[in-house]
Amino acid sequence: MTQLPGLLDTEAIRKDFPILDRQVHDGRKLVYLDNAATSQKPRQVLDALGEYYERYNANVHRGVHVLAEEATALYEGARDKVAEFVNAPSRDEVIFTKNASESLNLVANMLGWADEPYRVDHETEIVITEMEHHSNIVPWQLLAQRTGAKLKWFGLTDDGRLDLSNIDEVITEKTKIVSFVLVSNILGTVNPVEAIVRRAQEVGALVCVDASQAAPHMPLDVQALQADFVAFTGHKMCGPTGIGVLWGRQELLEDLPPFLGGGEMIETVSMSSSTYAPAPHKFEAGTPPIAQAVGLGAAIDYLSAIGMDKVLAHEHAITEYAVKRLTEVPDLRIIGPATAEDRGAAISFTLGDIHPHDVGQVLDEQGIAVRVGHHCARPVCLRYGIPATTRASFYLYSTPAEIDALVDGLEHVRNFFG
Ligand code: ALA
Repeated sequence: MTQLPGLLDTEAIRKDFPILDRQVHDGRKLVYLDNAATSQKPRQVLDALGEYYERYNANVHRGVHVLAEEATALYEGARDKVAEFVNAPSRDEVIFTKNASESLNLVANMLGWADEPYRVDHETEIVITEMEHHSNIVPWQLLAQRTGAKLKWFGLTDDGRLDLSNIDEVITEKTKIVSFVLVSNILGTVNPVEAIVRRAQEVGALVCVDASQAAPHMPLDVQALQADFVAFTGHKMCGPTGIGVLWGRQELLEDLPPFLGGGEMIETVSMSSSTYAPAPHKFEAGTPPIAQAVGLGAAIDYLSAIGMDKVLAHEHAITEYAVKRLTEVPDLRIIGPATAEDRGAAISFTLGDIHPHDVGQVLDEQGIAVRVGHHCARPVCLRYGIPATTRASFYLYSTPAEIDALVDGLEHVRNFFG
């Protein structure tokens, strides 16, 4: 068995994930390499979800009965866990949403409805990058269309990194918000936050970071990032679907207007007007995803017990091994950084002229789960002149043997297509 420095004890960890024992296609061992799409869930999270519904289920912040108080304590306890996990200065800066897309849409809509100095209008500019997931493109396109603001973006270098050579022309005195991904879901690139934040701060622009592919994989410190907003989702970090997070700086959350209106986000309501609850509740209209937040809290407990620095070291070792092995495959072209430096644990590639959907299907027949397509980052495929990629993405339970299985599987794909 291949041993690499920095690996976690995957034999022990995998026992926590019942689904990893599954067999598919008549007895083939599942090799799950689609973790950038969603991670698997450990028994500890599944148990927390079951226990919540079996013992505590009630609506939060509303009842005076025991279950309502216990459910509220669990829901708010999950907020504490998230705050600690990302080193937020205050738990009130953690807003629960349903996913990272909703978190990013929330920021765009806050700014669209805001008063000066935050308002985005026809005299201002919004900056994103060409490597964004659609969830960090479309909300800004919508905002630009509605307000007349100009949408600008950083392009990409041939090796899959952000081209910041024109940073002073892209981020200008007119820029109101710069929103970019910390780790690309398609290229795996880890972006240079510091340089972008420095320039944004110079011109007084706000910074929003999409950390969906970072929070599951590395220590995340919102204070060190020096951003104004950070968005991520629970289901990619061992948590359930239906729960996302938006962290925002307290003074901004106090100043900015709510987006969704409804129960729980108000202070008082009359027929002609309403006043709003303080953040984070101002941004959590309606019954929130209670069980999902509790599940995310359990996922954070699970990851924290292992240690995010150890998760990062494990994935770095696996990614380094994967890059090495994949570059040995004839006709394979990595789309994105072709080294393990400054990259996350998602590797996209093409294989000669075999369509990625065919690659994915033949791999699937061998029990190997990867994602194929444009990965909700179509501009990246357009930039590199390809219709789609095959993407293998790893997590804390991924093993060198699974990388070997992928490489063998790709050999089979090549033979199959002659
Ligand atoms: N954003 C997820 C992915 O990259 C769904 O696959």
